[in-house]
Amino acid sequence: MRCIPSPRLSFDTASLVLLAVVSTTAVAADVQATQAASSIGAAANAIAPAKVAWPYVNTGLPRDPQLEQLLDQILARMTLGQKVAQMIQPEIGYLSLAQMRKYGFGSYLNGGNTAPYGKKRAPVSVWLKYADEMYEASVDASQDGSRIPAIWGTDAMHGHSNVFGATLFPHNIGLGAARDPELIHRIGVATAKEVAATGIEWSFAPTVAVVRDDRWGRTYESYSEDPAIVQAYAGQMVSGLQGTLAQDFLQGAGRIATAKHFVGDGGTEKGVDRGDTLIDEQGLRDIHAAGYKTAIAAGVQSVMVSFNSWNGKRLHGHQYLLTDVLKTQMGFDGFVVSDWNGHTFVEGCDLTQCAGAINAGVDVLMVPEHFEAFYHNTIRQVEQGLIPQSRIDDAVRRFLRAKIRWGLLQRGKPSSRAESQQTEFNSDAHKALAREAVRKSLVLLKNNQQLLPLSPKSRILVAGDGADNIAKQAGGWSVSWQGTDNSNADFPNATSVYQGIRQQVEAAGGKVELAVDGDYQHKPDVAVVVIGENPYAEWFGDIQQLAYQQGDKQDLALLRKLKQQGIPVVTVFLSGRPLWVNPELNASDAFVAAWLPGSEGQGVADVLLRDAKGKVQYDFHGKLSFSWPRSDQQFVLNHGDTAYDPLFAYGYGLTYLDRNELPLLPEQSAATATQQQNTDGQIPLFLRNLAPGLAFALTDSSGSAVTVTTPFGVSTDGKSLTMQSVNLSYQEDARQLRWDAAQSAKASLRFRKAAAAKDYVAAKVLRLNIRLDQQVPANLQLAVLCDAAGLCQRQLSLSETLATFNPGVWQLLEVALDCAAQPALTQQLQDAVVFSASGRLSLAVADVVLADNNVATDAKVIKLGCAPAQARLQPAALKPTAFWSRPPAR
Ligand code: BGC
Repeated sequence: MRCIPSPRLSFDTASLVLLAVVSTTAVAADVQATQAASSIGAAANAIAPAKVAWPYVNTGLPRDPQLEQLLDQILARMTLGQKVAQMIQPEIGYLSLAQMRKYGFGSYLNGGNTAPYGKKRAPVSVWLKYADEMYEASVDASQDGSRIPAIWGTDAMHGHSNVFGATLFPHNIGLGAARDPELIHRIGVATAKEVAATGIEWSFAPTVAVVRDDRWGRTYESYSEDPAIVQAYAGQMVSGLQGTLAQDFLQGAGRIATAKHFVGDGGTEKGVDRGDTLIDEQGLRDIHAAGYKTAIAAGVQSVMVSFNSWNGKRLHGHQYLLTDVLKTQMGFDGFVVSDWNGHTFVEGCDLTQCAGAINAGVDVLMVPEHFEAFYHNTIRQVEQGLIPQSRIDDAVRRFLRAKIRWGLLQRGKPSSRAESQQTEFNSDAHKALAREAVRKSLVLLKNNQQLLPLSPKSRILVAGDGADNIAKQAGGWSVSWQGTDNSNADFPNATSVYQGIRQQVEAAGGKVELAVDGDYQHKPDVAVVVIGENPYAEWFGDIQQLAYQQGDKQDLALLRKLKQQGIPVVTVFLSGRPLWVNPELNASDAFVAAWLPGSEGQGVADVLLRDAKGKVQYDFHGKLSFSWPRSDQQFVLNHGDTAYDPLFAYGYGLTYLDRNELPLLPEQSAATATQQQNTDGQIPLFLRNLAPGLAFALTDSSGSAVTVTTPFGVSTDGKSLTMQSVNLSYQEDARQLRWDAAQSAKASLRFRKAAAAKDYVAAKVLRLNIRLDQQVPANLQLAVLCDAAGLCQRQLSLSETLATFNPGVWQLLEVALDCAAQPALTQQLQDAVVFSASGRLSLAVADVVLADNNVATDAKVIKLGCAPAQARLQPAALKPTAFWSRPPAR
């Protein structure tokens, strides 16, 4: 029998209530709540799913009468406004201390791209300082009457991975290959300590998705395609992060953990992020919910809702799954948090309101940007009876229960807590643990003629663009959300694969040469070539088929170049999923799937190299937790399939004792040309993210441009124009432009290479979403490239049109490009679309596309005048390039 310690309730209840809430406003006087079911809530229940029995998970956590009584007392004293504030979670890129003071929000987050004070490289002390400031603002009762502290949530996805200098463990896909639940527990403990050092209370991890289609861009966040591995790991990671129920549950450095994303995130059709998971209820339970069983049993305090739908219905509005299944049948007594603006997917909801999600069972709403409007609208919806008061009370009770279990009311401000003062952030012990995890995650797929292990006394060439590239080996969710735009300097104390090899080889008396392109000075005995996928996160990583570097086989060329010179080749493949790499396997003598190993690249050298005396240091240990495809069309390939025919089966992984010789494999890709064609007639310029080959450029009157390809905020040198990420439908899918000076400044979508003509010629309209945030001055100009590759530009004034827009409301705008017969400019233009203005103005743009047709019925269509500019360039001067090519079809 387990001995469960009672959560710390050794305080004087009455005084704590007073500490927590000072408002004397009675709840009853504050709201006229009715129990009437809302029409939105009724709609949410319209689709009756088939019912199967879900397992009741007994955590052994006592329903502590003292805690429940305390919650009764706190709730009875809280106003509706205080309760709603507890339920709303703003993001620090948008939330000010003043707003926290005013509303007393229950929690806040930093998204994958946000660090305190906008400082990507902020040290731990700065995170802690920020945590203190937010804490102080949240307990300041002068305006909202509440002293309940806020908690901070962050995506500690593979270590405290958003923080500069943190230990980065391998992404989950690599941990799955390690087949070591105890290792997962230790990683959870170490991660919690690093999170605690920054004063943050809550981690949005672990992801317990069971990925069934490897085209999904989040495949690497999953431990396995096999529910058994996910189930074995989820509870271990939760108890590592939170503490173990029978010992140190939610004590010391233990952080509140989150099992996400409930449920079916890894099962969407075609692996489309935020798509639809088509499966019967038994499959949903047995495959996709496997991790929740052990996570709940380990006492996980929060569950994050998934963006996906289940058989056509969005999870964020799914009362049956969130309330009936998760909370009632499975017995989850923690709180449910929504994903980033995930409520907007629910029928009847938008960025600023969503009774449907709350009624379905969401307790805390991640509303990064529009939290003020959401707060007021939610209060109104309760007052109108659209959200029952009982639902609000239940949500707040659940959230406060977790906060109190964690000891929030007694722990004091973040920097005063003992666990914030420990010195284990990126400690040697944590680095050694991450290095161990790297060693255990490596899977040996090919080792012909036993090329591996290598002698450290030999002459080794290290090549490939992943060789000395920590950003690439860390992948997405590493210092930045997408993991792009990072250099080795963004990972202090980390080691690249090359650095690890060099250190050991030089110590043993061998020679190492780094040549990314393989052009060595001294002919080597062997080449270690580190290649693979570039970083991505979420839908940015969705792909249509599984061939590696399709249409751009540069790494294959590198491997073949070395092989043709008689140099034995070891390929170290960095990737967030299994990919079809038959040609690369053929061009390698040995091939290692290294996944996304994180900050400790020397773990690769530990396994690839013998020691100086010739002994194997560490044998390969990793076994595939995902089936490896035989063809680039084997998207849905999972252990247990009826016609299972992988190249390397689930569980495969050679060791140094094996003598397998992999024969040459067929190299014919099955991908058809039609897959490269766009089906919806759109060419994206900035659709959720910049199209390849484009950047934003901000230019002020001095003429010098600041170019940016990331969602980070940026200003011109003179600060006359500032750009910041905002949200329309997706995370950071829009940009807000703020002009703030008398001189004119412009923001453009700028080509990084020359533009190709054909798509512009085909396009009929430029379409974009636009939101006016502040008064339009008379001189807002839009200029659009309207002809072959930068030879013609049309300008129009937007001031008059935008003057008719409602401020703060997104509106679709179409600009016709029918000026083909017009003369054009003398030199090729750099910019596809330009907004220029002076004075004070703020507007946001999103979803900028070129389209063949005008389909949007409610769009304001502006026809460009076709006033001539200057003389036309000779067509011969044009050099079309491929970057305009239409995106592959879904
Ligand atoms: C992701 C979540 C993450 C959240 C906050 C979302 O886009 O789906 O996994 O926790 O952002 O960063």
